Amino acid sequence: MEHVTERERREPAADEPSVRPGFAAEARQLQSVRVEPAEREAVFSLRDLAVLYSGSKAVEGVEFDLYRNEITAFIGPSGCGKSTILRCLNRMNDLIRGAEVRGEVRYHDENLYHPKIDPVQVRKRIGMVFQKPNPFPKSIYDNIAFGPRVLGMKGQMDEIVASALRRAALWDDVKDRLKQNAFGMSGGQQQRLCIARALAVEPDVILMDEPCSALDPISTGRIEELMLELKEHLSIVVVTHNMQQAARVSDRTAFFTVDLRANETQRIGKLVEYAPTDKIFTTPDDERTEQYVTGKFG
Ligand SMILES: Nc1ncnc2c1ncn2[C@@H]1O[C@H](COP(=O)(O)OP(=O)(O)OP(=O)(O)O)[C@@H](O)[C@H]1O
Ligand SMILES: [Mg+2]
Repeated sequence: MEHVTERERREPAADEPSVRPGFAAEARQLQSVRVEPAEREAVFSLRDLAVLYSGSKAVEGVEFDLYRNEITAFIGPSGCGKSTILRCLNRMNDLIRGAEVRGEVRYHDENLYHPKIDPVQVRKRIGMVFQKPNPFPKSIYDNIAFGPRVLGMKGQMDEIVASALRRAALWDDVKDRLKQNAFGMSGGQQQRLCIARALAVEPDVILMDEPCSALDPISTGRIEELMLELKEHLSIVVVTHNMQQAARVSDRTAFFTVDLRANETQRIGKLVEYAPTDKIFTTPDDERTEQYVTGKFG
Protein backbone atom coordinates (compact mmCIF):
# COMPACT_ATOMS: atom_id res chain seq x y z
CA MET A 1 0.00 0.00 0.00
CA GLU A 2 1.59 3.28 -1.03
CA HIS A 3 1.70 6.41 1.10
CA VAL A 4 0.96 4.67 4.44
CA THR A 5 2.23 6.93 7.18
CA GLU A 6 3.98 5.80 10.36
CA ARG A 7 0.87 6.76 12.30
CA GLU A 8 -1.32 4.49 10.19
CA ARG A 9 1.23 1.66 10.47
CA ARG A 10 1.56 1.49 14.24
CA GLU A 11 -0.94 -0.28 16.53
CA PRO A 12 -3.46 2.09 18.14
CA ALA A 13 -3.02 2.84 21.85
CA ALA A 14 -5.79 1.56 24.14
CA ASP A 15 -7.34 5.04 24.60
CA GLU A 16 -7.16 5.90 20.92
CA PRO A 17 -9.96 5.16 18.45
CA SER A 18 -8.82 2.34 16.20
CA VAL A 19 -7.74 3.46 12.79
CA ARG A 20 -7.61 0.75 10.16
CA PRO A 21 -4.64 0.68 7.81
CA GLY A 22 -5.69 2.24 4.55
CA PHE A 23 -8.24 4.47 6.27
CA ALA A 24 -6.57 7.61 5.01
CA ALA A 25 -6.75 6.39 1.43
CA GLU A 26 -10.41 5.46 1.86
CA ALA A 27 -11.13 8.82 3.42
CA ARG A 28 -9.39 10.57 0.54
CA GLN A 29 -11.51 8.56 -1.87
CA LEU A 30 -14.68 9.42 -0.03
CA GLN A 31 -13.64 13.03 0.08
CA SER A 32 -13.04 13.05 -3.65
CA VAL A 33 -16.56 11.68 -4.17
CA ARG A 34 -17.95 14.40 -1.92
CA VAL A 35 -16.16 17.30 -3.56
CA GLU A 36 -17.07 16.17 -7.09
CA PRO A 37 -20.09 18.51 -7.47
CA ALA A 38 -17.96 21.55 -6.66
CA GLU A 39 -15.54 20.54 -9.39
CA ARG A 40 -18.20 20.46 -12.09
CA GLU A 41 -17.40 23.19 -14.54
CA ALA A 42 -20.09 25.74 -15.32
CA VAL A 43 -20.26 26.61 -19.01
CA PHE A 44 -23.00 29.19 -18.51
CA SER A 45 -24.01 31.11 -15.41
CA LEU A 46 -27.21 33.11 -15.66
CA ARG A 47 -28.02 35.69 -13.01
CA ASP A 48 -31.27 37.63 -12.76
CA LEU A 49 -31.83 37.24 -16.48
CA ALA A 50 -34.79 39.00 -18.07
CA VAL A 51 -35.74 39.38 -21.72
CA LEU A 52 -38.07 42.04 -23.04
CA TYR A 53 -39.68 42.28 -26.46
CA SER A 54 -40.59 45.84 -27.44
CA GLY A 55 -40.42 46.87 -23.79
CA SER A 56 -42.60 44.13 -22.30
CA LYS A 57 -41.11 41.35 -20.25
CA ALA A 58 -41.26 37.82 -21.66
CA VAL A 59 -39.14 36.16 -18.94
CA GLU A 60 -37.59 37.36 -15.69
CA GLY A 61 -35.51 36.30 -12.71
CA VAL A 62 -33.83 33.35 -14.42
CA GLU A 63 -30.77 32.06 -12.57
CA PHE A 64 -28.84 28.85 -12.99
CA ASP A 65 -25.53 27.30 -13.99
CA LEU A 66 -25.30 24.93 -16.96
CA TYR A 67 -22.50 22.38 -16.83
CA ARG A 68 -19.87 21.11 -19.19
CA ASN A 69 -20.29 17.70 -20.87
CA GLU A 70 -23.89 17.58 -19.78
CA ILE A 71 -27.17 17.67 -21.65
CA THR A 72 -29.52 20.18 -20.10
CA ALA A 73 -33.20 20.05 -21.06
CA PHE A 74 -35.54 23.05 -20.98
CA ILE A 75 -39.16 22.04 -20.55
CA GLY A 76 -42.39 23.94 -19.92
CA PRO A 77 -45.64 25.02 -21.56
CA SER A 78 -45.74 26.97 -24.79
CA GLY A 79 -44.87 30.64 -24.36
CA CYS A 80 -42.97 30.23 -21.06
CA GLY A 81 -39.76 31.49 -22.71
CA LYS A 82 -37.69 28.38 -23.43
CA SER A 83 -36.60 29.54 -26.89
CA THR A 84 -36.09 33.07 -25.61
CA ILE A 85 -33.68 31.90 -22.92
CA LEU A 86 -31.94 29.49 -25.29
CA ARG A 87 -31.30 32.38 -27.70
CA CYS A 88 -29.69 34.38 -24.87
CA LEU A 89 -26.98 31.73 -24.70
CA ASN A 90 -25.51 32.54 -28.11
CA ARG A 91 -26.74 36.09 -28.56
CA MET A 92 -29.31 35.14 -31.14
CA ASN A 93 -31.72 37.60 -29.52
CA ASP A 94 -29.40 40.34 -30.86
CA LEU A 95 -30.86 39.52 -34.27
CA ILE A 96 -34.46 40.11 -33.15
CA ARG A 97 -35.63 43.70 -33.41
CA GLY A 98 -36.98 45.03 -30.15
CA ALA A 99 -35.46 42.25 -28.03
CA GLU A 100 -33.56 43.38 -24.94
CA VAL A 101 -31.57 41.16 -22.59
CA ARG A 102 -31.09 42.27 -18.96
CA GLY A 103 -29.10 40.65 -16.20
CA GLU A 104 -26.02 38.56 -16.61
CA VAL A 105 -25.03 35.70 -18.89
CA ARG A 106 -21.54 34.42 -18.16
CA TYR A 107 -19.90 31.93 -20.52
CA HIS A 108 -16.82 30.23 -19.04
CA ASP A 109 -16.93 33.07 -16.54
CA GLU A 110 -16.80 35.82 -19.14
CA ASN A 111 -19.62 38.29 -19.67
CA LEU A 112 -21.17 37.14 -22.96
CA TYR A 113 -22.72 40.57 -23.48
CA HIS A 114 -19.57 42.61 -22.93
CA PRO A 115 -19.22 45.21 -25.71
CA LYS A 116 -15.86 43.73 -26.68
CA ILE A 117 -17.33 40.29 -27.34
CA ASP A 118 -17.94 39.59 -31.03
CA PRO A 119 -21.35 37.90 -31.49
CA VAL A 120 -20.11 36.13 -34.65
CA GLN A 121 -17.35 34.45 -32.66
CA VAL A 122 -19.90 33.61 -29.97
CA ARG A 123 -22.09 31.81 -32.51
CA LYS A 124 -19.07 29.89 -33.78
CA ARG A 125 -18.36 28.55 -30.27
CA ILE A 126 -22.05 28.08 -29.48
CA GLY A 127 -23.93 26.55 -32.40
CA MET A 128 -27.65 26.20 -32.86
CA VAL A 129 -29.98 23.62 -34.36
CA PHE A 130 -33.61 24.51 -34.95
CA GLN A 131 -36.94 22.69 -34.90
CA LYS A 132 -37.26 22.54 -38.66
CA PRO A 133 -34.15 21.32 -40.45
CA ASN A 134 -32.89 24.31 -42.41
CA PRO A 135 -30.16 23.20 -44.81
CA PHE A 136 -28.94 25.79 -47.29
CA PRO A 137 -30.05 25.24 -50.90
CA LYS A 138 -26.62 23.86 -51.71
CA SER A 139 -24.89 20.52 -51.93
CA ILE A 140 -24.38 18.38 -48.85
CA TYR A 141 -20.66 19.16 -49.06
CA ASP A 142 -21.16 22.91 -49.35
CA ASN A 143 -23.59 22.97 -46.43
CA ILE A 144 -20.87 21.62 -44.17
CA ALA A 145 -18.03 23.60 -45.74
CA PHE A 146 -19.91 26.90 -45.50
CA GLY A 147 -19.06 27.76 -41.88
CA PRO A 148 -15.40 26.69 -42.00
CA ARG A 149 -14.93 28.71 -45.22
CA VAL A 150 -16.55 31.84 -43.78
CA LEU A 151 -14.41 31.55 -40.68
CA GLY A 152 -11.29 30.84 -42.74
CA MET A 153 -10.61 27.65 -40.84
CA LYS A 154 -7.30 26.03 -41.61
CA GLY A 155 -7.06 22.44 -42.79
CA GLN A 156 -8.06 20.24 -45.65
CA MET A 157 -11.73 21.00 -46.44
CA ASP A 158 -12.51 17.42 -47.54
CA GLU A 159 -11.28 16.22 -44.14
CA ILE A 160 -13.26 18.85 -42.24
CA VAL A 161 -16.44 17.89 -44.11
CA ALA A 162 -15.92 14.14 -43.67
CA SER A 163 -15.12 14.50 -40.00
CA ALA A 164 -18.24 16.57 -39.28
CA LEU A 165 -20.43 14.11 -41.18
CA ARG A 166 -18.90 11.19 -39.27
CA ARG A 167 -19.46 12.87 -35.93
CA ALA A 168 -23.11 13.45 -36.91
CA ALA A 169 -23.44 9.74 -37.84
CA LEU A 170 -24.29 10.74 -41.40
CA TRP A 171 -21.17 9.79 -43.34
CA ASP A 172 -22.30 6.33 -44.41
CA ASP A 173 -25.64 7.69 -45.62
CA VAL A 174 -24.16 10.42 -47.80
CA LYS A 175 -20.53 9.66 -48.66
CA ASP A 176 -21.46 8.75 -52.24
CA ARG A 177 -23.60 11.81 -52.90
CA LEU A 178 -21.78 14.72 -51.31
CA LYS A 179 -22.32 16.88 -54.39
CA GLN A 180 -26.08 16.36 -54.42
CA ASN A 181 -28.48 18.99 -53.13
CA ALA A 182 -29.23 18.71 -49.41
CA PHE A 183 -32.96 19.05 -50.09
CA GLY A 184 -32.90 15.52 -51.51
CA MET A 185 -32.29 14.09 -48.03
CA SER A 186 -34.98 12.82 -45.64
CA GLY A 187 -36.08 15.08 -42.78
CA GLY A 188 -34.06 13.08 -40.25
CA GLN A 189 -30.97 13.20 -42.46
CA GLN A 190 -31.44 16.94 -42.99
CA GLN A 191 -31.53 17.43 -39.23
CA ARG A 192 -28.31 15.42 -38.82
CA LEU A 193 -26.84 17.52 -41.63
CA CYS A 194 -27.69 20.64 -39.63
CA ILE A 195 -25.98 19.08 -36.60
CA ALA A 196 -22.95 18.24 -38.79
CA ARG A 197 -22.95 21.82 -40.06
CA ALA A 198 -22.89 23.07 -36.46
CA LEU A 199 -20.10 20.59 -35.60
CA ALA A 200 -17.93 21.58 -38.56
CA VAL A 201 -16.84 24.81 -36.87
CA GLU A 202 -15.73 22.90 -33.74
CA PRO A 203 -18.25 24.34 -31.28
CA ASP A 204 -18.04 24.11 -27.51
CA VAL A 205 -21.81 24.07 -27.04
CA ILE A 206 -24.77 23.14 -29.23
CA LEU A 207 -28.18 24.65 -28.52
CA MET A 208 -31.11 22.66 -29.89
CA ASP A 209 -34.62 24.06 -30.07
CA GLU A 210 -37.05 21.12 -30.36
CA PRO A 211 -34.69 19.33 -32.75
CA CYS A 212 -36.84 16.22 -33.13
CA SER A 213 -40.35 17.59 -33.18
CA ALA A 214 -40.59 17.23 -36.98
CA LEU A 215 -39.04 13.74 -37.00
CA ASP A 216 -40.34 10.18 -36.85
CA PRO A 217 -39.42 7.97 -33.84
CA ILE A 218 -36.51 6.26 -35.64
CA SER A 219 -34.87 9.53 -36.69
CA THR A 220 -35.57 10.88 -33.20
CA GLY A 221 -33.81 7.88 -31.68
CA ARG A 222 -30.77 8.46 -33.89
CA ILE A 223 -30.56 12.12 -32.91
CA GLU A 224 -30.85 11.19 -29.23
CA GLU A 225 -28.05 8.62 -29.59
CA LEU A 226 -25.99 11.23 -31.34
CA MET A 227 -26.58 13.75 -28.53
CA LEU A 228 -25.35 11.22 -25.98
CA GLU A 229 -22.19 10.63 -28.03
CA LEU A 230 -21.57 14.33 -28.59
CA LYS A 231 -21.82 15.28 -24.92
CA GLU A 232 -18.53 13.48 -24.32
CA HIS A 233 -16.87 16.36 -26.18
CA LEU A 234 -19.19 19.33 -25.78
CA SER A 235 -22.21 20.58 -23.88
CA ILE A 236 -25.78 20.52 -25.16
CA VAL A 237 -28.88 22.47 -24.21
CA VAL A 238 -32.09 21.08 -25.67
CA VAL A 239 -35.60 22.50 -25.61
CA THR A 240 -38.21 19.77 -25.82
CA HIS A 241 -41.93 19.22 -25.40
CA ASN A 242 -41.28 15.50 -25.28
CA MET A 243 -41.03 14.47 -21.63
CA GLN A 244 -39.65 11.04 -22.52
CA GLN A 245 -36.93 12.68 -24.53
CA ALA A 246 -35.94 14.96 -21.65
CA ALA A 247 -35.93 11.95 -19.30
CA ARG A 248 -33.94 9.80 -21.74
CA VAL A 249 -31.18 12.15 -22.74
CA SER A 250 -30.71 14.94 -20.24
CA ASP A 251 -28.58 15.08 -17.11
CA ARG A 252 -30.34 18.11 -15.73
CA THR A 253 -33.71 19.66 -16.45
CA ALA A 254 -35.01 23.19 -16.07
CA PHE A 255 -38.77 23.58 -15.82
CA PHE A 256 -40.19 26.98 -16.75
CA THR A 257 -43.74 28.16 -16.56
CA VAL A 258 -45.91 31.17 -17.07
CA ASP A 259 -48.78 32.06 -14.81
CA LEU A 260 -51.77 31.35 -17.01
CA ARG A 261 -54.13 33.08 -14.58
CA ALA A 262 -52.37 36.38 -15.07
CA ASN A 263 -53.73 38.77 -17.69
CA GLU A 264 -52.02 39.02 -21.06
CA THR A 265 -49.71 41.86 -20.05
CA GLN A 266 -48.52 39.99 -16.94
CA ARG A 267 -47.69 36.65 -18.50
CA ILE A 268 -44.04 36.47 -17.69
CA GLY A 269 -42.08 33.23 -17.94
CA LYS A 270 -40.13 32.09 -14.90
CA LEU A 271 -37.84 29.27 -13.94
CA VAL A 272 -39.70 27.08 -11.46
CA GLU A 273 -37.21 24.33 -10.78
CA TYR A 274 -33.82 23.17 -12.00
CA ALA A 275 -32.36 19.89 -10.83
CA PRO A 276 -30.93 16.56 -11.95
CA THR A 277 -33.38 15.08 -14.43
CA ASP A 278 -34.32 12.05 -12.31
CA LYS A 279 -35.26 14.35 -9.45
CA ILE A 280 -37.43 16.53 -11.71
CA PHE A 281 -39.24 13.43 -12.97
CA THR A 282 -39.55 11.51 -9.70
CA THR A 283 -39.42 13.82 -6.69
CA PRO A 284 -39.66 17.45 -7.80
CA ASP A 285 -39.82 20.10 -5.09
CA ASP A 286 -42.50 22.21 -6.73
CA GLU A 287 -46.08 21.07 -7.22
CA ARG A 288 -46.22 22.80 -10.62
CA THR A 289 -43.27 20.74 -11.85
CA GLU A 290 -44.98 17.54 -10.77
CA GLN A 291 -48.23 18.53 -12.45
CA TYR A 292 -46.41 19.34 -15.67
CA VAL A 293 -44.22 16.24 -15.89
CA THR A 294 -47.16 13.98 -15.07
CA GLY A 295 -49.24 15.63 -17.78
CA LYS A 296 -51.78 17.27 -15.47
CA PHE A 297 -50.95 20.78 -16.59
CA GLY A 298 -49.64 22.58 -19.63
N1 LIG B 1 -39.59 37.66 -31.76
C1 LIG B 1 -40.47 37.93 -30.80
N2 LIG B 1 -41.10 39.13 -30.75
C2 LIG B 1 -42.00 39.41 -29.77
N3 LIG B 1 -42.34 38.56 -28.80
C3 LIG B 1 -41.76 37.36 -28.79
C4 LIG B 1 -40.79 36.97 -29.79
N4 LIG B 1 -40.37 35.73 -29.53
C5 LIG B 1 -41.05 35.33 -28.42
N5 LIG B 1 -41.88 36.30 -27.98
C6 LIG B 1 -42.76 36.23 -26.79
O1 LIG B 1 -41.99 35.80 -25.68
C7 LIG B 1 -42.70 34.85 -24.90
C8 LIG B 1 -41.87 33.58 -24.83
O2 LIG B 1 -41.78 33.01 -26.13
P1 LIG B 1 -40.85 31.79 -26.48
O3 LIG B 1 -40.95 31.59 -27.96
O4 LIG B 1 -39.54 31.97 -25.88
O5 LIG B 1 -41.62 30.59 -25.73
P2 LIG B 1 -41.39 29.01 -25.80
O6 LIG B 1 -41.37 28.54 -24.39
O7 LIG B 1 -40.21 28.72 -26.64
O8 LIG B 1 -42.72 28.51 -26.51
P3 LIG B 1 -42.94 27.27 -27.49
O9 LIG B 1 -42.94 26.05 -26.61
O10 LIG B 1 -44.30 27.51 -28.07
O11 LIG B 1 -41.86 27.28 -28.52
C9 LIG B 1 -44.05 34.65 -25.59
O12 LIG B 1 -44.98 35.45 -24.92
C10 LIG B 1 -43.80 35.15 -26.99
O13 LIG B 1 -44.97 35.68 -27.55
MG1 LIG C 1 -39.94 27.74 -28.45
